[in-house]
Amino acid sequence: MNKITNQHTVWHEPSVYRRDREVMNGHKSAIIWFTGLSGSGKSTMAHALENYLHKKNVRTFVLDGDNVRRGLSKDLGFSDDDRTENIRRIGEISKLMMEAGVIVITAFISPFIKDRKIVRELVSEGEFIEVYCNAALDVCESRDVKGLYKKARAGEIPDFTGISSPYEHPDNPEIVLDTVNQSLEKSVDIINAYLNERQIINYS
Ligand code: ADX
Repeated sequence: MNKITNQHTVWHEPSVYRRDREVMNGHKSAIIWFTGLSGSGKSTMAHALENYLHKKNVRTFVLDGDNVRRGLSKDLGFSDDDRTENIRRIGEISKLMMEAGVIVITAFISPFIKDRKIVRELVSEGEFIEVYCNAALDVCESRDVKGLYKKARAGEIPDFTGISSPYEHPDNPEIVLDTVNQSLEKSVDIINAYLNERQIINYS
């Protein structure tokens, strides 16, 4: 790849600011970042939350690992470096979408603490809400919704998270969800309460 620099770019100031969009929307922008093993319920949670918020006229958008990897990140695999690049791209896209006034909901394994920290630091304090979908590996593996754990155990998928590639759980996430024992509704309630308490929604 050619070495590309940004030394000849000039920042163009917008005429409509994020704050203007937030006032119009009646809610703030944020990133709700689900992290957890494959099969831990990230996508299910993300879509359930989006449905709930959409009905309350909140502007949302879900970015989901399996989908993004068919487009924006289709050139990437699952090596450590490729995962880092995947999360970097999602972080930058999420930041842009925040500027557009959206509550961005992301569902990526995002296995590395350092990569999630980079995204957290892209935005202001309180705007990155890390939600750990806590489901033990044996539970995710026994569910095996996509049949991928079986293939990974058989050696057909290299670098599979939890099997042949690590997952570093968050030490201090904003929210931990027990996605094994807790209902989806209860989990949505917990996040909704958090967003209200922080005045991210119901804000003017
Ligand atoms: S991440 O590690 O870069 O955050 P991402 O969330 O985009 O991963 O993609 C994970 C999804 O890709 C999984 O839910 C699974 O369906 C699929 N997948 C395919 N190969 C792998 C692999 N080696 N490790 C983990 N997930 C994989």
